[in-house]
Amino acid sequence: IRAFGNEEESEKRFDQANKDLTHTNLFVNRVMVSLMPIMMFIMQGMTLLIIYFGAKQVDLGHIAIGEMMAFLQYAMIIVMSFLMVAMIAVMLPRASVAANRVAEVLNTEPTIENPVQITSFDEDKKGLIEFKHVSFKYPGADEPVLNDIDFTARPGETTAFIGSTGSGKSTLINLIPRFYDVTEGEVTVDGVDVRNVSMHDLRDRIGVVPQKGLLFSGTIESNIKYGAPDLSDEELAEVIDVAQAKEFIETKPLGVEEPIAQ
Ligand SMILES: Nc1ncnc2c1ncn2[C@@H]1O[C@H](COP(=O)(O)OP(=O)(O)OP(=O)(O)O)[C@@H](O)[C@H]1O
Ligand SMILES: [Mg+2]
Repeated sequence: IRAFGNEEESEKRFDQANKDLTHTNLFVNRVMVSLMPIMMFIMQGMTLLIIYFGAKQVDLGHIAIGEMMAFLQYAMIIVMSFLMVAMIAVMLPRASVAANRVAEVLNTEPTIENPVQITSFDEDKKGLIEFKHVSFKYPGADEPVLNDIDFTARPGETTAFIGSTGSGKSTLINLIPRFYDVTEGEVTVDGVDVRNVSMHDLRDRIGVVPQKGLLFSGTIESNIKYGAPDLSDEELAEVIDVAQAKEFIETKPLGVEEPIAQ
């Protein structure tokens, strides 16, 4: 949207969907609002009729008062049930749409799966990432985003990607933890193809700092220990030092125990 200056078009589409929803909701609520007085009118009118005619029968000694009251109660229960059916008629379509969507999500088969034959990492090549003639196309896209990318990122060195918005930097990074599988070529981490190792082990070896910072509610400490719950105090101090967060934490009255909101 950003790259093609499509904001206005997207706003229009959202506006249209919003208007449709408003119209439907207004219609449903108007129907419901008029349904209630009608139902009430029927209910109270029926009560009146039953008492009017019932009283005469009681007067003549044909039925007892209790019998009339029982009849009234039964009639009420029946009318109430119709009211309920009307309510359900409104709720049911909504529920079924929601249920379909939930089922759709639950039935989605992950495209990325653990390999049958798990290879272990090559410890001699620890920290080495290689892209070998990698091409990648998003599912359903016509054009590949990445075309024949070939490079080696060595441990101890900093490898950077520079490019304009939409040139595929994030896409390229997402191939390393295997969020997507390459269309052609291969991506290797520690000397093995990412498709041949277990996803848990692979992601255990990778740290990602995303474009958008995100903290979880808790304390500074719990946020740091999120990925490694049994970090020792010395290690914690080291991590804080590396992240250059020491200065910031020292200004807090509670230090690492300082509460953080999401
Ligand atoms: N999930 C997706 N499905 C389909 N196409 C996508 C998806 N994510 C990104 N793209 C497309 O892939 C191309 C590269 O996007 P990418 O997000 O990798 O760019 P980027 O270089 O990280 O941009 P930025 O500098 O804005 O972060 C864009 O044309 C984008 O529209
Ligand atoms: Mg990006």
